[in-house]
Order: sequence, then structure tokens, then C-alpha cells
Amino acid sequence: MKRIMLISAAVLALAGCKASDPQLGEASIDKVLKAMTLEEKVHFVIGTGMAGFGGESAVVGATKNIVPGAAGTTYPIERLGIPSIVLADGPAGLRIDPTREGDDNTYYCTHFPIGTLLASTWNQELVENVGKAMGEEVHEYGADVYLAPALNIHRHPLNGRNFEYYSEDPVVAGKTAAAYVRGVQSNDVGTSIKHFAYNNQETNRTGNNAVISPRAQREIYLKGFEITVKESDPWTVMSSYNKINGTYTSQSKDLQTTVLRDEWGFKGLVMTDWFGGDNGAEQIAAGNDMLQPGTDLQYQQIMDAIKDGSLSEAELDVCVRRCLELVARSPKAKGYAYSNKPDLKAHAAVTRQSALEGMVLLENKGVLPLKDVKNVALFGCTSFDFIAGGTGSGNVNRAYTVSLLDGLKNAGFNVDESNKEATLKHIADEDAAFKASLTDQLSAFYPTPRPSEIVPRPSELSKSARANDVAIITFGRNSGEFFDRTSADFVLSAKEKELLAKVTSAFHARGKKVIVVLNIGGVIETASWKFVPDAILLAWQAGQEGGNSVTDILTGAKSPSGKLPMTFPVNLMDAGSSANFPIDSDTGVYFTNRREDVGQKDVDVTRYEEGIYVGYRWFDKKELPVSYPFGYGLSYTTFEYSAPAVANDGTTVTAKVTVKNTGAVAGKEAVQLYVSAPAGTLDKPVKELKAYGKTKELAPGESQELTLTFPTSELASFDEEASAWKVDAGTYTFLFGASSRDIRCTATAEAAAAETPTHRVLLMK
Ligand code: BGC
Repeated sequence: MKRIMLISAAVLALAGCKASDPQLGEASIDKVLKAMTLEEKVHFVIGTGMAGFGGESAVVGATKNIVPGAAGTTYPIERLGIPSIVLADGPAGLRIDPTREGDDNTYYCTHFPIGTLLASTWNQELVENVGKAMGEEVHEYGADVYLAPALNIHRHPLNGRNFEYYSEDPVVAGKTAAAYVRGVQSNDVGTSIKHFAYNNQETNRTGNNAVISPRAQREIYLKGFEITVKESDPWTVMSSYNKINGTYTSQSKDLQTTVLRDEWGFKGLVMTDWFGGDNGAEQIAAGNDMLQPGTDLQYQQIMDAIKDGSLSEAELDVCVRRCLELVARSPKAKGYAYSNKPDLKAHAAVTRQSALEGMVLLENKGVLPLKDVKNVALFGCTSFDFIAGGTGSGNVNRAYTVSLLDGLKNAGFNVDESNKEATLKHIADEDAAFKASLTDQLSAFYPTPRPSEIVPRPSELSKSARANDVAIITFGRNSGEFFDRTSADFVLSAKEKELLAKVTSAFHARGKKVIVVLNIGGVIETASWKFVPDAILLAWQAGQEGGNSVTDILTGAKSPSGKLPMTFPVNLMDAGSSANFPIDSDTGVYFTNRREDVGQKDVDVTRYEEGIYVGYRWFDKKELPVSYPFGYGLSYTTFEYSAPAVANDGTTVTAKVTVKNTGAVAGKEAVQLYVSAPAGTLDKPVKELKAYGKTKELAPGESQELTLTFPTSELASFDEEASAWKVDAGTYTFLFGASSRDIRCTATAEAAAAETPTHRVLLMK
């Protein structure tokens, strides 16, 4: 039966709605569930379709316009008082259409910083506040579940969605996501933590089989989700597109039920990623409760499976119940009268403040903060056309983006605008040429390539160096889903290198300094050029207020306090995962299993042969030099660490350290607590992050004692033989670091042996 017909039937039935029909919100979930027909149940676990995709059932008039531009809606059943609830992206802000037909109002949302920047703040309280602001927009614009945060591990520098994700370390990923969820959900709306799990590449993302050892899964790829589930109780989880050890994650009962619910205690709902997996009945059997955005095929698969007995109605009811519970707790079911007027002004201030705390000062040869600077020369197309964030589902329809040019002008600098018009025209021309070259149906999702750089003539450069006090060059990289980045994106282009060399030599010839701002979404090569300019500020993609936030750092209105949540390697191939990542695979395979079209096989399987040795765990083990280590970031002041102490009472490890601002200006310091385990039964990383914290803003001379805690059970490693988490007995060394390679002091504590058995699941095939 066509799904659209059934919805119409449900609408018609409204007129004849029987008084005896139990209503959601009034009657118990049990009663409502009991009153549902099989057809209604199957429709209810499937979304209402998406325009342009998924056959005749797609786009149902009853729901498509509740919040235009939202990603999906759930299936309404009027006769039982079940409304359609709205699911909308994330994660850098709410993604809905900014304008509506026949309506003069606007519906812009705040573009907050990308996920990687939020993680770079190392400030869980700040992330929670950002989440609160985002959640208010979700609530006030009438959405019910916000499809965020995204917390997969940065396994490889070129993964196309790293910008949405947080870190190469699961503790940073999990703590950041948990803070975000607490903030968003404080508004009585839901979140969907995604993509569960192992979504670490875009190439063939809907068909790729990630082959990962149980230990690496548990310790690296699942750990962040485990922390988030346990510390923030998200309403929903979104399964990922890929397979794990041969099974689609959305069809893996091991993952969606045994690990997530039985072991971690998750009580909410699991939904698929959009069009994820290939068998609706297997998804329901696995405990993947809702299928989004919904297709006829899924309806048929579930019905057929029930008819042939391979899926029982009782199994379906488990998922239906969770869908009912989700709808029942939604603002829509409670009749929340949303205003369509979130406090965008207040949120602009939130994004500006949060962005400046996640920017990372990579180099500074005494030029920053700027002193005695009035006239500024700007180079690099991106200085005039700042990148707020990524494209695809992570894009936010914002009202404006503050460029670096605007930010500097807002702060009262005289910015040399002589090359502005030509640069903007050049950007527009290249943009138009790119768009004209697209023929594909999915073009709307493609990120426009960054414009090629313009290198001014020597006479112009020397004129500029005479007239201005300092030069700032911005290098940009776009980000967005559907594609992995290429090795060409990773390095500076020939033009970028030429621009850097020529601007630097012209300004240095006059004793003037050059600052590089990186407006990028992920790791790039820095080792070969980082000593050329006088300072490098990694601004990431800092949301709609980016230019103002960068300016706040440059002027010293705030001292930088961001630190890297990932390693910047010297060479791309140094990363352990480079041996097994589809670098420069030009399959063009990124959506709905189109890999068959190109017949390439090399992207079917990705073997995570580096195991648990991801990021700094790899570089430490191999004793490799890096360009910037995990946890690194400079400040305008200096900090001294003292009085390290650690106690373990068998339940909780409590670590204390005193941090003193020993410099001349106020600043915050992110402190990292690593652990080195005693020699035991399992191979162990040199060190692993277990907790972190950030001081308040310390005035010069001021001290603060930071207390960092974590459960003693987190000292365990996963023993595959025993299928158990095992703590080895012995003396553990705790390292208090300013970065993973700048350990300031240590303390030791004993731990007793412990073993926590788990189910033997998710095995490698
Ligand atoms: C993305 C998800 C997103 C969904 C809905 C998918 O393509 O992978 O992150 O939430 O679309 O827009």
C-alpha cells in the first residue's frame, strides 16, 4: 500500500475519530500502542519522506511545511492524537529555511562555531552554554529534536566531516558532546548524537565496511558515545551509514541494543541516518527504532518480514513504543506555542565569545597582541570572504558572516581596502564558473572550491608595506560532508606559498610583521612554512561572528586559550591511519551507494589496522616528531603548574594541581591529565588522556587549584580474549600536561586489579 494513501486515510479518519480512541498524552503509552493497527505501527516507525528522494510516498503534505527546511518529520496519526514532530540539523546551529513563501518574516538561525572549534576550547561549561543558546533556537522555531552533536573520532586528517567532529581523543569527544547535549536539552528539546558509530570517512560512506578490532572499537570509537550517553542522557542516537565488521550499524543488534542499551543503559530512541542501511526489517530487529526520512521500500520490507515471521510484531512494538515515548515528550505533543523569535542578538554574543576561546595560537614571535598598529594590510581571498562553517547538513542559514575585514574595521583599524573590489570580483567569478560547471542533481550540496589566490605585483606589495603597520594573510579551506578532503587541500597551494613568501619579504624588508590566520575546518600541513610568518592564529571556522572573534584575539581583548584537540603531523603519511584511508580516491562515491556506478572496489573496506593507535597514541608510540602536538596552544601569558596530587579510592581518581599565571596579562589555561599504566597483561599506549579542565581567567600572579576526577574503572583497557575491561594492579603515573608533549608535573597512585565482563559482540570478520 502506498504510504501517502494511508496518511490521507488517517486524516480522513479524523472526522470519524471514535471517542473511544485513546489519545497520546492523555491515555498511557500502553493503551495507545494497543490501539494501533499493524499498518499504523509500520508507518509510524518510518519518517514521512523527503522531497525528491524515495519514490511515490515521499513528501507528505500534512507535515512538510511545519518547519520548512527541517530534515525530517515523524508520521502523524491524528485519530490517536499523535502529532508529527520535527527533526532538524545541526550541529553548528539549527538548519531551517531562512525565508518562506508568501511570508515577509525571516527565520535566520545563529551560525555557531564548528564542532572542532568548540572542542578546542577545552571548556565544558562554555560548550554547555553554547548548547543552551542553540536549544533555544530549536525550541522557538518549532523543532523538537536537534540532529546534533556529531562526535566521531578524527581518525584521519582528510575525513570530510572532521569539522563537525571534535577530536582524535574519545574523552575530549565525549565530554564535549555531553556538555553540548546538556545545554541543548535544558530547553526541553531533544538531541540526536551522531553518527553511531565508526563514521570516519565520506568516501563510499553509505557502503563502506569499517573493519575494526573489538578493542579499538571499545576504547576509541565507542568510548566518546559511552561517555555522552552516561553523562547527558540524550533523547536520541543517530546510527551511521557505514558497516561495522560486515553489518550496517543500523542493522547491528550488537551495537544498537547489546552495547548501547544493555551495557550502557541508554533509554531513548535510535534513528537511522538519512536513507541509511539497506533493510528496514533488520533495522527494527536490531533496535534501530525509527527510519528516516522514510521510503516505500522500508515499509514493504517490514511488512513482508512480519508476514513471513522473520520479524515479530513484538519486536516491532519495542520500536513503536520508543517512538511513542519520543513524540510524547516533545514540545509539539505538549502544545508548546513557539515564538519564531529566538534571541538572535544574545546568541550572536554567545557565538562571538565561544569562538575566541577555541582559537589556537600556533606561533607568535612577539607580534601579538597587536601594539601601536593602526593601518592593516589584508591578503588572501578569505580575509574578505570569511568561512563561517561547513556545507551540507551542517550548514546554517545565518543572516550574515563577519569577515576579518569587517571585524578589524569594527574595532577601529584602518584597513587597506585597495584590493577589496578586485578580490571580491575574482571570488564571484570563480564561484560562478564552478556553479556553471555542475550538472549533477546533488550539486546543491557541493562545497564551492576556495578561490585561487591573487598575488599582488612587487610594486603594489612594497607600496602596501610602506603604508601599513602590519600584514595579515588569511588562508581558507572549505569543509562539508559528502567528500573527503584531498592531499592537495592538506598542503598550501603554490599560489598560497608564493603569496606568503612575497608578502613576508616585502613587509620584513621594512621591519614590519606578518600574521597568518587559518580559516580552516581541519588539519593542514604547517611544518614546512610555519617559521615564515611572525604569528599563526588557527581561527578554525568560527561561525557568523568569526571576524570579530579573530579581532578580539589579535588586539588582546582576550588572551588565546584554545588548544588543539588533534595532532598536526609533519607529513600526511605519518598518521597511522594513512596506510588505510582512501586518500585521493576519486570515486565520486559519496551518496546512496553510487559506488556501483564507477565499479571501483578499493573503497568497499577500510581496515583500521592501527587499532587503538589513533592520533597522539600513534605518534607517541612511534616516537614521531609532529608539527604541533595534541593539546598544544600558546597564550599571551605563561602558567606554572605546581603541587600535583592524585588519590584513588577505588571508585574515583581525584587529581589536583595548582596553576599560576606567571605572565603579565590575564588568561585561562587548559590542563590535561594523562595516565601512564604500569606494565601489565595488555599492550598500552605511552599515555592516554583521562580528564581535563580549564582555569577561570587568572589575573597576573593569580593561582587556582584545579580538581580533575574520573571513575577508577576508566583505567581499564579492553581485553579481547576475555571480552572484559581490565584494570591491571600497580602504580599508575598521572601526568599534568599543557599539551601531550609538554608535561609539567606528575604524581602516582596505586590501583587494584579489576575486571568487568562485557558481551562478546562486534567481532572482526
Ligand atoms: C547526514 C546527517 C544529517 C542528515 C539529515 C545526512 O546526510 O549524514 O548528519 O543529520 O543527513 O539532514
